[in-house]
Amino acid sequence: MRVTGTGHASMRIDTAAGSILTDPWVNPAFFASWFPFPDNSQLDWESLGQVDYLYVSHLHRDHFDAENLKRYVSKKAAVLLPEYPTSELEDELRELGFRSFIKTKNEEVVELDGGLKIMIQALISPTDGPIGDSSLWVEHDGIRLLNQNDARPSDLSRFAELGHVHAHMLQFSGAIWYPMVYELPEAAKRAFGKQKRERQFDRTWRYIDDLKADHVFPIAGPPCFLDDSLYQFNDIFGDEGAIFPDQSVFVSEYAKVGGTNGVVLLPGSVSELNAEGGITTEHPVPVDEFFANKAAHLEEMRERKRPIIEAEKASWRHPEIDVLAEMKRRIEPLLEASIYMAKGVGGPVRFDLVGYDGESVESIVVDFPGKEVRAYADEKVRYRFKTERALIEHLLFIGEVDWVNSLFLSCRFSAARIGQYNEFVYAFFKCLSQERLQYAEGWYDEHERAVEAESIELGDWEVQRRCPHLKADLTRFGIVDGDQLTCQLHGWRFDLPSGRCLTSVGHKIRAARKDA
Ligand code: FES
Repeated sequence: MRVTGTGHASMRIDTAAGSILTDPWVNPAFFASWFPFPDNSQLDWESLGQVDYLYVSHLHRDHFDAENLKRYVSKKAAVLLPEYPTSELEDELRELGFRSFIKTKNEEVVELDGGLKIMIQALISPTDGPIGDSSLWVEHDGIRLLNQNDARPSDLSRFAELGHVHAHMLQFSGAIWYPMVYELPEAAKRAFGKQKRERQFDRTWRYIDDLKADHVFPIAGPPCFLDDSLYQFNDIFGDEGAIFPDQSVFVSEYAKVGGTNGVVLLPGSVSELNAEGGITTEHPVPVDEFFANKAAHLEEMRERKRPIIEAEKASWRHPEIDVLAEMKRRIEPLLEASIYMAKGVGGPVRFDLVGYDGESVESIVVDFPGKEVRAYADEKVRYRFKTERALIEHLLFIGEVDWVNSLFLSCRFSAARIGQYNEFVYAFFKCLSQERLQYAEGWYDEHERAVEAESIELGDWEVQRRCPHLKADLTRFGIVDGDQLTCQLHGWRFDLPSGRCLTSVGHKIRAARKDA
């Protein structure tokens, strides 16, 4: 089995029974904020795109690059489709010209021509990707590979039970706006960033340990930020709170926990795997040398990509749009239909929109309890976002249903909040269509009931077995320290005597002292 690195989460897998291209991302994503790092735009996409199968793990724009898919990927390729609750991924791929779809069943192995076997695990909670994220398992000729990309299943047992895995590809770096966009003192931001960075690595070690593959490939990040206003997010300034460590940092951190089987793929690197666990990898340039010159590489990219960013920026303004009226028209029916998420948000969310002149500000409130969108009326809000009016105009202009997969991931905003993180705020703003909203509401409805059911004993406490966040099994992920429980999957903490979640509002845990 041959694996060619094609940048970020993308790779081409070649076997005697056919080839698979995964998540081919080249063009900037999220308002031209994210670019693939290292740069992969010089690869020969014409020939890379001539494949038998295409796998797009999910619709995040650093995995689903419509322009690249349309232009370069053979429309004869059969799409390996995760079993998602909505048909959006299939619909978008059909629109690009793909006609052949292999609709997989969640966690079921499919045997394709020539003995090539695949299995896709689809995660479908409202917080997984844009309503869905997935991992691809591949087996041919006794060699097994798991491309986990940025999916976060509660464990990898379903893959482990299919036999020893030779190559495990997974995310290790950040892919979010926290804590950089928060209006916090620099020292606090650095401390939160450092915590976040450590948690990302801990989670990665846990997955690696779950599977114990022969070789571990750090993929699916970090992106690079080339716009001058975002350049500081690149991990080149020695900031210990930077959440976007690169593959060379992965290798050194992994070594500290005893990891010696890491394989870094640059765009164009080729690994040959064999069934005995052997591997040979060739790189277009020496890996150490490449990362030693990272700052120069980014500088060169920044200059080269500047015209692309400028052209994108020029397309965002739509002065003819009445933002308040249009947000009202689009969002109020969804507020009306929302029970769980509206209750979960629980208060007004304010958007401060900075005009074209960089100074004037229009303040709009999405009032969840009042179920309306209106001008800000000097009230206290728990969440406030500040961004350019032009970005919201653009979202309204294109009818974007997912503001996480566009505005929030762009990091082109600042945020302030009182109190804890509230996942329902982001869950709602990725569900700006009735289809998505209804799905998410139904999921929360079922989930609320399911997580309550079973109990386990942890230390001096009897607690519900499943984490109130995303159902991680607390027999594995729960750690009790005194009166506090931490679920190590995403680091959420709970106060056991009260059941209160200390990380995010509205996620109570059921707990009782054993001798009570
Ligand atoms: S499942 Fe996310 S913190 Fe427990």
